[in-house]
Amino acid sequence: MIKMCVVGSGYVGLVAAACFAELGHDVTCVDNDSGRIGALERGDVPIHERFLPELLQRHRGKRLRFSSSLASSVQASEVVFIAVGTPPSESGETDLSYIEAVAREVGAVMATNASGYKVIVEKSTVPATTCEGIRRVMELNGASAASFEVASNPEFLREGTAVTDFLYPDRIVIGAEGPRCIALLQKIYEPLTSGAYYGLKEAIGEGAPAAPARLIVTSAKSAELIKHASNAFLAMKISFINAVAAICEGVGADIDQVRQGIGADSRIGSRFLNPGVGYGGSCFPKDIQAFRAVAQSAGYDFRLLEEVVRINDEQRRRFMAKLRSALWSLRGKRLGVLGLAFKGGTDDIRESQAVAIIQLLLKEGCSIAAYDPAAMEKSRSSGVFENQDVSFSSDAYAAARSADALLILTDWEEFAALDLARLRAELKYPILVDGRNLFRPESVTASGLIYVSMGRSEVPQKAAAIPGK
Ligand code: UGA
Repeated sequence: MIKMCVVGSGYVGLVAAACFAELGHDVTCVDNDSGRIGALERGDVPIHERFLPELLQRHRGKRLRFSSSLASSVQASEVVFIAVGTPPSESGETDLSYIEAVAREVGAVMATNASGYKVIVEKSTVPATTCEGIRRVMELNGASAASFEVASNPEFLREGTAVTDFLYPDRIVIGAEGPRCIALLQKIYEPLTSGAYYGLKEAIGEGAPAAPARLIVTSAKSAELIKHASNAFLAMKISFINAVAAICEGVGADIDQVRQGIGADSRIGSRFLNPGVGYGGSCFPKDIQAFRAVAQSAGYDFRLLEEVVRINDEQRRRFMAKLRSALWSLRGKRLGVLGLAFKGGTDDIRESQAVAIIQLLLKEGCSIAAYDPAAMEKSRSSGVFENQDVSFSSDAYAAARSADALLILTDWEEFAALDLARLRAELKYPILVDGRNLFRPESVTASGLIYVSMGRSEVPQKAAAIPGK
């Protein structure tokens, strides 16, 4: 059992704190937002994340506590994880001011209190060399160089599957130099790397993985780079398949067959090759800009990433063009929209392509009836559609009711299970424009709907005929 604190109770911080408690450690999750800390103490679960409510319930008040006092939490901890926000600045570079503020405060605590050796670990996604910056700031604020080490331990969790991503990782990356620091971090993850966790009766998830997690020890700079390069590579895979999907449409090939053929090569792999309206979320868009900035300052012009972003932006325009060809003019059209979140399984609408597309449709004079299984509350409270012609529906069928067409913008599993005949009966015109390829074209057209999707043969002639009615 290691005494630790996790600074930041956002997505990464809260999931990491709950999972570290699950691994048997004594954890304090710290945030300077005392309202949020109070809510967490009362039992609120601020994010929509599978298994998180169970973990918080299991450990709250026992191995997992919440605090708004950084000083006392740091003092009582051997390891301090930093998981505060790293938003982009105007120029696309990462704004490290929150990290710096934490480093300053931790340094000052360590200067005045001889509470022993500590390891400071950055978990937030940060540019290479941030570890060095943290070390410098801590020393400038009075921490003695011998009393601490700084390490990088990037997180690869995805929203929606964050808890199982944490507990069943492909790899754990530890970027650290000193043997004492490395040993401490190895010990933290030992229940996963030894596989002991998976033998526990109450373990979360579906039993032991084929192989326990691989631990990769690197320098801190390499670890920082691994995180940025991994996200950039995944985004590149998505833009690549979206470009191939566009070519499929041009030559009359089927993207499903093509990606199956590509993905079967184990050197490429089939995951993250789903075409759609483009990637979104709080990580990929921001991390790619940040990685470009890192490359730039290292003297390398990483233009490939510029192209990844361009293709991603292009997806929205391609989707709008499909809609126009299916509906002819957009002005005055009433559209049902399924999906607001940036992907299925989450209530997060940050950088959501669904939201961006709805905004384009509103500008064109459409009215929108939207449904999302989890993200409607955030869409309402964030005010993204304030004073706009957007209503929220109670379910997918209500969104389709009397609509000129139904659009799918988020890949929620439950959308793929919808009753197509019932949707057709609700719609004014039988048009389904699927930006996420949730259905096979044959099954949709068999139910009497005109189906427009991404990178597959469509029924454009019939679709073009509809709006003239
Ligand atoms: C991503 C990474 O997958 C995580 O490994 C990483 O830890 C995280 O960023 C982070 O840096 O914190 P996340 O943003 O939660 O996780 O979401 P993803 O599942 O990666 O999806 C990102 C976007 O790509 C979504 O909009 C999704 O719909 C889209 N996507 C994904 C596709 O369009 N096609 C695909 O094949 C896969």
